[in-house]
Amino acid sequence: MSDTATAKVKCEIDGAEVHYLPAYLAEKHGMSVEEYRQAYPNAPLESDALRAKFAAAVKNTTRKAPPPRDQLFLNVAGYRMPVNWDVPPEACLPLPPSYRTPSKGKLAQDVKRAARYFLAGRSFWAWGPPGSGKDAFPSALCSMTRTPSAIYPVNADVDIMAWFFDKNFENGETKWIFGELFNNLVHGYVSPVSGRRVPMTIVLSDFDRAGRSQAEAIRLVADSIQGRVKGPLGETYLVLPGTRLIITANTMGGGDATGKYISANVLDTSILDRIERKVKFHSIDWRDEEPIIREKYPLFAEKCGHLLPKIGDATQVLRKAVEEQNLYGEFSHRGLETWVGDCEDMLRLMVKPPKDLLKQGFLSFADGLPDEENKTLALTLVDAYLKGGALDQGDTSDVEDDDLDL
Ligand SMILES: Nc1ncnc2c1ncn2[C@@H]1O[C@H](COP(=O)(O)OP(=O)(O)O)[C@@H](O)[C@H]1O
Ligand SMILES: [Mg+2]
Repeated sequence: MSDTATAKVKCEIDGAEVHYLPAYLAEKHGMSVEEYRQAYPNAPLESDALRAKFAAAVKNTTRKAPPPRDQLFLNVAGYRMPVNWDVPPEACLPLPPSYRTPSKGKLAQDVKRAARYFLAGRSFWAWGPPGSGKDAFPSALCSMTRTPSAIYPVNADVDIMAWFFDKNFENGETKWIFGELFNNLVHGYVSPVSGRRVPMTIVLSDFDRAGRSQAEAIRLVADSIQGRVKGPLGETYLVLPGTRLIITANTMGGGDATGKYISANVLDTSILDRIERKVKFHSIDWRDEEPIIREKYPLFAEKCGHLLPKIGDATQVLRKAVEEQNLYGEFSHRGLETWVGDCEDMLRLMVKPPKDLLKQGFLSFADGLPDEENKTLALTLVDAYLKGGALDQGDTSDVEDDDLDL
């Protein structure tokens, strides 16, 4: 700082140096600023330093008028997304608990692409391992941008056709009733606030589970992606422009060779071709996952937070084994939730949580693996990463509580 920046002002009466003369004059000489100025017309009253400090303090506080409500925007994964101010949250898919937009690793790139497809109004197919957030991401996006939306879960038993239209007999006559999905596509959502018709975003979840008999209905879906949909008598309806279709699945329509997703079927390429964009979701990066786990399981984070890096290492090893098809099963975010969630339950419900808390919690996941061999493999993989061991340590009744790894 230069001398002028720190220099004080001099009181012309007694030569004292202060930053703010008015207060000093009043206190020391019982004099007002006007009286002082009469005697010393051009004498400075406050130091440059004080003036600079004040200017800096108020510099960035000029308030702009709030943006008009029909011009609200939100930044998601680097894209500026318009927000529908007139759509209530109940009309949108929910924000998943403790949701964080993935910002690290491969999944961050995946969701960035998906966000672009969304912003551009493209239909897209998001596929990849369970628990990577293929359904959570569109749900969060719709919730954050107040996009009216609905999710339709597909499985082998569901009558997809009825989502479009269904027959009804009335006074001996056949009547067609339009289904919810048809209405979503053609009529969109009418805002109760503004009366505006807002196009909907439809998520068809686990789309690759649709069976052969559902093929005709799938064609209707694919056609709607093209902007029109056929009615029960072959007549054509226009899909409300701006309507988005998001399809999620474990596979890319080629069936599943690993046998893990037995309900995944092979889908007609002419249908796949009609979906404008495809993106493969990878597993969530631990750097994004750890804060989510900390938020979801606060008691575990408080008591065992120091063990989370180890859990992260174990998670990575398990996922690698799954990816390389050594471990037959999954260790998704849901698997991790099972593990840490059960540890949290033990901390909450047991007067004396077990010494091998992490192992006990892990069993709640490992028992869900298809056989003993895979279970042993999972336990062995994890054991190497957990201090105190995840495998049975034998009789530990002689160990003092102080030895606990908590
Ligand atoms: N980025 C995230 N932040 C917080 N929770 C997430 C995130 N991604 C996924 N989850 C949670 O993980 C679970 C599985 O996500 P989901 O989207 O259903 O997986 P899938 O990819 O199988 O569709 C859900 O409970 C979801 O809320
Ligand atoms: Mg899903």
